[in-house]
Amino acid sequence: MRPSTHLLLATSTTLLVSSSYAFVIPQDEVDVLAALAVNESQALPDCSTITSCVPSQGAAHIIVSRASTEPAGTGVLGAVADAVVAACPGSDIVANPYPALLSPYLPSEPYGVGNLTELVTTYQACCPHSKIVLMGYSQGAQVTADFLCGTSEVGFPATPAYAASVKDSLAAAVIMGDPTFVKGLPWDRGNASNVSYFPRQDNGACKPVAPVFISYCDSGDLYCDDGTAADALSIHTGYVTKYGAQAGNYTVDKIGGCPGA
Ligand SMILES: *[C@@H]1O[C@H](CO)[C@@H](O)[C@H](O)[C@H]1NC(C)=O
Ligand SMILES: *[C@@H]1O[C@H](CO)[C@@H](O)[C@H](O)[C@H]1NC(C)=O
Ligand SMILES: *[C@@H]1O[C@H](CO)[C@@H](O)[C@H](O)[C@H]1NC(C)=O
Ligand SMILES: *[C@@H]1O[C@H](CO)[C@@H](O)[C@H](O)[C@H]1NC(C)=O
Ligand SMILES: *[C@@H]1O[C@H](CO)[C@@H](O)[C@H](O)[C@H]1NC(C)=O
Repeated sequence: MRPSTHLLLATSTTLLVSSSYAFVIPQDEVDVLAALAVNESQALPDCSTITSCVPSQGAAHIIVSRASTEPAGTGVLGAVADAVVAACPGSDIVANPYPALLSPYLPSEPYGVGNLTELVTTYQACCPHSKIVLMGYSQGAQVTADFLCGTSEVGFPATPAYAASVKDSLAAAVIMGDPTFVKGLPWDRGNASNVSYFPRQDNGACKPVAPVFISYCDSGDLYCDDGTAADALSIHTGYVTKYGAQAGNYTVDKIGGCPGA
C-alpha cells in the first residue's frame, strides 16, 4: 500500500468517526425516519385521532368493545378498564365505536372487527413503544377474538388474524361471554360445559397471544355455552360482578404490576 492511499484511508476513518458523533439522532426522529422509509410501500397512518401515546412502561392504551345493545361507550367492562387506569396511572381508554346491534347481528359484528382493526393498527403505528390492552364483552368479545384470531365461524365473513402482528404491543386481552367460545383451550376461564352459539373453527390462530389472553365463560351461559335454563341470561351478564376484580388484576399484572415499571 502506498503511503498516500494509507493517509487517505486514515483520513476518511477519522471523518466517519467524527461525523457519527455529529449525528446523534434523537429516538423520536429515528421513528419519523422509519415511518418515512415505509411510506413508499404503504400510506402513513393518520395519527391525528391520537392525542398522545401512553408511557412505554407501567401504562397501557385500553380498547374496549362493548356488548350487544349497550349504549355507545365502554359498557359494563368500563369498570374493569377504570380500575386498571387507577392502578396504572398514565393509561387511557377508548371505546370501539362499532354499532353493537343484537338484531341484526350482521353486519354489526364484522363492522366491530373492522373498527377494532383500524384502532389497533393505527395506534401501533403511531405509538410503537406503547402497550395495548383489549377488552370485550359478548358481541364485543367476539369482535376482539375475531381481530386476534381471525374470523373463522360459520356464517361470518372471514378476516385475517392479527395475533402474530400485535403480540409485541399487546399487554393483555380479556374477554367475557364470547359467543365463539370453545372449551378446553389454554386461555379459557370459568366452567363452561356445553357449546357456544358460533364455535370458532380455527383456534390455532390465537396462539401467538396465548400468554396474555383470557376468556371467561361459565356453564349455562345463554351465548357462550348455549344455556337454556331460566338463569342463562343472568349468567351471561354476570361476569364483571363475578370476575371483574380478577380480570383487572390479571391485566395490571400483565402490564408489569404498575406503577412505573
Ligand atoms: C407518503 O405517501 C403519500 C401517498 O400515500 C404521499 O402523498 C406523501 O407525499 C408521502 N410522503 C413522503 C414524505 O414521502
Ligand atoms: C366501522 O363501523 C361503521 C359502522 O358503525 C362502518 O360503517 C365502518 O365501515 C366500520 N369501519 C371499518 C374500517 O370497518
Ligand atoms: C360455575 O362457576 C360459577 C362461578 O363460580 C358457579 O356459580 C357455578 O355454580 C358453576 N357451575 C357449575 C355447573 O359448576
Ligand atoms: C347444550 O347446547 C344444546 C345446543 O347446542 C342445547 O340444545 C342444550 O340445551 C344445551 N345444554 C344445556 C345443559 O344447556
Ligand atoms: C384487584 O383485586 C382487588 C380485590 O381483590 C380489587 O379491589 C381491585 O380493584 C382489583 N384491581 C383491579 C385493577 O381490578
